Amino acid sequence: MKSKTVFLCTNCGNEFAKWSGRCPSCGQWNTLEEYTPSQTVNKSASRSILSAKPKRLSEIESDEAVRYTTGLSELDRVLGGGAVRGSLVLVAGAPGIGKSTLLLQICQCICGEQSVLYVSGEESASQLKLRAQRLNVDREELYFLCETSLDEILASAERLKPDLLIVDSIQTLYTEDKPSSPGSVTQVKDCTLRLMQYCKTSGVSVFVVGHINKEGAIAGPKVLEHMVDCVLYFEGEEHTTYRLLRAAKNRFGSTNEIGVFEMKDHGLTEVPNPSEMLLSGRPEQTPGNCVACVMEGSRPILAEVQALVSPTTLTNPRRSSNGFDYNRAAMLLAVLEKRGGLKFFNSDVYINVIGGLRLDEPAADLSVVLAAASALLDKPISDSLAAVGEVGLTGEIRAIGQLSQRLTEIRRLGFTQCILPRSGSTEITVPEGLELLRVRNIREVLAVAF
Ligand code: TYD
Ligand code: MG
Repeated sequence: MKSKTVFLCTNCGNEFAKWSGRCPSCGQWNTLEEYTPSQTVNKSASRSILSAKPKRLSEIESDEAVRYTTGLSELDRVLGGGAVRGSLVLVAGAPGIGKSTLLLQICQCICGEQSVLYVSGEESASQLKLRAQRLNVDREELYFLCETSLDEILASAERLKPDLLIVDSIQTLYTEDKPSSPGSVTQVKDCTLRLMQYCKTSGVSVFVVGHINKEGAIAGPKVLEHMVDCVLYFEGEEHTTYRLLRAAKNRFGSTNEIGVFEMKDHGLTEVPNPSEMLLSGRPEQTPGNCVACVMEGSRPILAEVQALVSPTTLTNPRRSSNGFDYNRAAMLLAVLEKRGGLKFFNSDVYINVIGGLRLDEPAADLSVVLAAASALLDKPISDSLAAVGEVGLTGEIRAIGQLSQRLTEIRRLGFTQCILPRSGSTEITVPEGLELLRVRNIREVLAVAF
């Protein structure tokens, strides 16, 4: 069968039969690139699937040792309890965020019983050695290869038979059978397909680094997301040393977990208590801030929500929200105005969540409301008070899940009071020393807080 040319969007990864200036799926301009599926890749891919004979569930052997630890428990948590043999993991993030550092660091632990082949297409061997020395990585079972040809890399891997293959980065790789340059969507896609085949047939785990770029000129990792087993995003604010690792896709675990790291002189260190980190440096007795508690996977995390309300002469006052959904923030301000009697119409309002965290859970509503009200009234909320609860359009405070876990974390960090919804809060165990302020609506919230 003759392979047919298709067009791939470098932004969303969708495939189209015809070229157009704008991607019909995601609406981005100038992102479609020509792609001819390679004959060899397609044939062997279908063969490896077809040769598998149907088996009963009881006949399939489950290998207990299929997972292994990477030595960083924050990374293990995001992977769903450790790395899985024969899986392809994509670690994506902006340049300079610390992807190479993270992957080099896990080599130190993994290398005890297993061997690792670290392939870099970005740094020379001596640069890698310098970095390894800085990170105190000195294992004998760690092999480096500076190479960008995928055929050479796979040949080396076949010879060396490592337990883990690290490829940094997918944008530097190329295969001989395609004329296009490294980083183009054709190369990125074909290289990933071949790495996928390699890891499925050999049982070797593969970690691949992918750079994200805003222009979409180079094929971003979005194209790869559909192919790989696991996509981890490594994020962080430019000016802080904290880094968040989150799973956008995981075939072997939950996608809700986050891992928190801090970048130090000697590499990344884990932050086992993110709440403490996020609350450090909190201003005392200052208007315009309130502590929220959100669940990130199985773990409750406390974060500080800040608000600034300043008078404006603009007909359309400014609203800005960082780390919290913009439309939801606007809705909460409207609820405060209509049901709580606080007037925001002649003020600019800025909402900010400290530490680069995103609060996507409705349970954070109450803290946003309290921070905004405190800023408008210019009255501080007690430093020992936290708040959880969803706010509805009629101004009611609605029940939220996993209340006991949240309250335990709130108490653990030294808070003595917590505002929470009345509904769903009667049958919980209250941690010692925590006073619960149960509320039904926005008016009650304002009455107990100020
Ligand atoms: P790097 O892992 O090279 O980023 P990526 O591979 O994602 O492009 O990280 C580079 C940044 O990390 C650089 O700004 C320097 C900083 N860094 C440290 O602060 N401490 C360290 O020990 C190392 C190795 C890097
Ligand atoms: Mg790098």
